[in-house]
Amino acid sequence: MICQIEITTYCNAKCFYCPNEFLEHRHISFTLFTKIIDSLPTQSDLLLQGTGEPLLHPQFWEMVEYAKQKTHSISIITNGTIALENSQLQMLKSVGISIDTLCVDTAKKTGRPDPSLIINKLLEYHSSIPEKIKIFAVDYGQELQTLRTFALRHKIILFVQHIQPKSSYQSRYKTNLLTYRNYHCRYIENNIIRYFFVDGKEAPCCFMIDRHKALSRDEVFKYLSSGNVPECCQQCGELTGVSRLSMRSNSKVTI
Ligand SMILES: C[S@@+](CC[C@H](N)C(=O)[O-])C[C@H]1O[C@@H](n2cnc3c(N)ncnc32)[C@H](O)[C@@H]1O
Ligand code: SF4
Ligand code: SF4
Repeated sequence: MICQIEITTYCNAKCFYCPNEFLEHRHISFTLFTKIIDSLPTQSDLLLQGTGEPLLHPQFWEMVEYAKQKTHSISIITNGTIALENSQLQMLKSVGISIDTLCVDTAKKTGRPDPSLIINKLLEYHSSIPEKIKIFAVDYGQELQTLRTFALRHKIILFVQHIQPKSSYQSRYKTNLLTYRNYHCRYIENNIIRYFFVDGKEAPCCFMIDRHKALSRDEVFKYLSSGNVPECCQQCGELTGVSRLSMRSNSKVTI
């Protein structure tokens, strides 16, 4: 099982598709972080980020040191604006760097950090520890072939994720309303992830962006097994049955 902790909701970017701007901005306290870590089973895969930029947490490396007592499988996804030293990279199992485009203008228009300031760092990290570095792109209908070619040329793994279709993201952009095809969610039925918001509240997945409405695994299960979809799950791809990867042709969004 993966355990994901939202260690901060501060961010230094304003990506148009991300609800970060609407969140209360805070860092997790070291005490709460250690309490969560202490409650986890040993050897859990740990992902240290939520809706925020993880490397902005002033005690990020202290938290990594602490978590290493429990597991050596600690990963992050970062927007790439904060440089990492080689010794720091060594402490992580995997580092995902979010880049949706190599085009500086497109990145600027969409609120993403300037890729020209990130690419060299990314290549430098990749040359020292190639197996740890991955690129994460959100597909919102932009030209992606240039990024695909770049990743292929440098042999960097590229994950392309469709822009999140859930209702709770729709204040940022509009996607088509889809019909529910089933009431089964892998996150609920298979215990894929334990997600902890920055205030310590737990959720069964990382997609319940409106934390005040997030329900527990059991609560969601009750809704789904009676053929109902709770507010925190509205329009989730798990229930509309549309694979996030097969939505490419549909993925132009209204910003
Ligand atoms: C929420 S961010 C947190 C980590 C860091 N701030 C970053 O941007 O990489 C984690 C990942 O979620 C992606 N993401 C954010 N909003 C999204 C959305 N509406 N749809 C799909 N992916 C999204 C980001 O691009 C990033 O790859
Ligand atoms: S996607 Fe990441 S970098 Fe962009 S606003 Fe959200 S948290 Fe910040
Ligand atoms: S939002 Fe609801 S349906 Fe979607 S993954 Fe999470 S628990 Fe499952």
